[in-house]
Amino acid sequence: MSAPHALATMIIAIDGPAGSGKSTVARRLAAALGLTFLDTGAMYRAVTLAALERGVEPMDETSCAELARALRLEFDSDGRIRIDGKAGEPAIRSDEVTRWVSAVSAHPRVRAAIVPQQRAQADRGLGIVAEGRDIGTVVFPRADFKFFLTASAEERARRRSLEKHEPERFHAFLADIERRDHHDSTRHDSPLKQADDALLVDTDGVGPDGVVARLLEVIRGRAG
Ligand code: DC
Repeated sequence: MSAPHALATMIIAIDGPAGSGKSTVARRLAAALGLTFLDTGAMYRAVTLAALERGVEPMDETSCAELARALRLEFDSDGRIRIDGKAGEPAIRSDEVTRWVSAVSAHPRVRAAIVPQQRAQADRGLGIVAEGRDIGTVVFPRADFKFFLTASAEERARRRSLEKHEPERFHAFLADIERRDHHDSTRHDSPLKQADDALLVDTDGVGPDGVVARLLEVIRGRAG
């Protein structure tokens, strides 16, 4: 990690597997520090949604990459993605998109189209809290702070079933999480991996407020 700069232009990277609480934590941390929240997974989900809607085969790298270059991906002031001017939520969170997003995001040419758009958000000179899988390793290797959030697959599936108010689907969520963990961490291009200089934060049994408090302690301790 590089020497911390002023809070206003700081880049904070939060990576971790599906359901590790990254989104909630990154969003709250950004609010607490007055920084912009960047949900990079939403961009891969947007490409996947557009592919499914337009009948583009998710395994077809060339067509998915074309789509990734053609779509206008923006974020509103709440950090929610807009796809060609239209709200991406909640469609980007559907089971169908979730099923295919690992495959679409594994295409190197899709990543080559999306990563520069993620870096462009930081080039606007505003500090950001970016969350994803490869933020500390690939997108912002010189981030001021890097955190890698983990929790057991069971805990993550439990959180997902509470969040979706579907406790009866715990086993389906667990299977999906295990499948995505495997896919995301074994893919060739930019696999899910803790950066050497990232701080590992185990969130098993710790709520989002507890995690945010821990990260703020680290950030304020070093930046203050
Ligand atoms: O964080 P999420 O569940 O919304 O991410 C959806 C998928 O996108 C995830 O399975 C892997 C992929 N992803 C990625 O490859 N790189 C990122 N920086 C963020 C997400």
